[in-house]
Amino acid sequence: MSDSCQAPQGFLEAISDAVGPDHCLSDPDLKASYELDWTRRFGGPALVVARPANTSEVAKVLAACNRFHVAVVPQGGNTGLVGGSVPRHGEAVLSVSRLSRVLSCDPEEGLIVAEAGTTLAAAQAAAAGVHAELGIDIAARDSATLGGMVATNAGGIHVIRHGPMRARLGGIEVVLADGTVASRLSGLVKDNVGYDLAQIMAGSEGTLGVVTKVVLHLVPVPPFRVTALIGLRGIEHSSADPAESVRSVSEVAVGLAARLRRRVDGIDALELVYADGMTLVREVMSLPAPPDPGADAWLLVEASGGRDPSDMLAEAIEDAPGVTEVAVGDDAGGRARLWAYRERHTEAIATLGVPHKLDLTLPMKAFAEFAGAVRSEVSAALRGRTDTRVIMFGHVGDGNLHVNMIGPEPEDYRADDAVFRMVIQRGGSISAEHGVGVAKLDFVSAARSAGDLTVMRRVKDALDPSGILNPGVLLPPVG
Ligand code: FAD
Ligand code: MLT
Ligand code: ZN
Repeated sequence: MSDSCQAPQGFLEAISDAVGPDHCLSDPDLKASYELDWTRRFGGPALVVARPANTSEVAKVLAACNRFHVAVVPQGGNTGLVGGSVPRHGEAVLSVSRLSRVLSCDPEEGLIVAEAGTTLAAAQAAAAGVHAELGIDIAARDSATLGGMVATNAGGIHVIRHGPMRARLGGIEVVLADGTVASRLSGLVKDNVGYDLAQIMAGSEGTLGVVTKVVLHLVPVPPFRVTALIGLRGIEHSSADPAESVRSVSEVAVGLAARLRRRVDGIDALELVYADGMTLVREVMSLPAPPDPGADAWLLVEASGGRDPSDMLAEAIEDAPGVTEVAVGDDAGGRARLWAYRERHTEAIATLGVPHKLDLTLPMKAFAEFAGAVRSEVSAALRGRTDTRVIMFGHVGDGNLHVNMIGPEPEDYRADDAVFRMVIQRGGSISAEHGVGVAKLDFVSAARSAGDLTVMRRVKDALDPSGILNPGVLLPPVG
């Protein structure tokens, strides 16, 4: 296996023959943007960057990598946050960015078929053109590709309504490590002939094949959609009801999220931001004051359906413990203004330095206690280092908390490890939606049973016997 920037003799010529010399990049300036990940924490020099234009060229590139035993990193929009989309040890990069055509978008069948390098935003625009939606959305929509979202099984802001990417999948085309093209694009809802190719690829992080086409189910655009941003404060003092005294703002948020789910039909999103993140986002993005600017946290709720959910929402929020002020957006502009406080966290945090991004799920009953305990565990792990900032936010409706740390050096894993241990102790997951990549490799064995890992390894060995596809990502080394 090639493990340095020295190409085996004849390899670069084979890649150039496959994709054409203009799309076989070996100039350091041209390769640079493919070599560093979005967080700037991960990356390294690429042996070469291949930019195929279609499935057949992808197959030729992979066949060449397989023949010359050259490791290859599939790359889409390079918005992944766990280091799986960039070379680490002189691998080749296979970018699908030129496979960017929407092939069909059919509201009658309720399906969109697109090449894997199509951005989420382009697919959303095509769906909007037939008065439909994808049922999945993430803030990186302008760059993230459908193939990358399948490969990471991306989640995002509508998972509580429509599930993650794997739930949206109606079919797939994928090229295996030896260049074999496997295709199942019918989009049939009921089709039980054997293993499910699309589901095997979902969450495989570029280790089993290169996704070249994606079929997604569409959902109709709902006639009504309302977003509310709700200011919350922890409950400090005993109220008439002793059960409601002294609740942290995270407990208040979890309680309100559960109440909204019980009382409001058609909840699309339940998102949480805290005061420190809100202050940062407002400063960096120059955003106006939110409702109750002095709140401890804000819950963003969105609901939609065939009937206007505003009254139901208002009734459910009224008198809820810990609620202070509410702002409502019921048109596209108003909703976008409220979403900006939540969606722009990722960019705002990145302005502080290279973030350590931990993407976790907690059982609901552990969410608030965990959120309250993280900072002291991080501080203990870093032995009192005082310049670390911890900013949390997330998809509270799914129990998914994003813990961002700025301060520790990129290669300092002490705080990451301490937080992952906390999650495992509480029965949570070390990866809610971003995947494992290289960032969480050490904790995969603790997060999966031995039998489960054996299945994963055997699938990998069967589909990629030479181990050329994204080695070092997702599967920890044996032993
Ligand atoms: P890349 O970053 O290029 O790759 C990601 C992984 O997929 C790598 O392992 C790569 O090898 C593999 N891969 C890429 N393309 C292919 C392919 N065609 N075939 C096989 N393997 C492939 N994630 C969420 O889940 N929810 C969010 O809400 C969310 N919000 C985000 C917001 C921002 C601002 C950013 C920067 C990221 C966010 N993400 C979120 C991270 C998320 O993983 C990615 O945005 C997206 O899923 C990755 O798509 P990509 O095309 O950029 O893939
Ligand atoms: C989000 O929910 O905004 C994303 O998962 C990105 C992040 O964690 O920063
Ligand atoms: Zn997220």
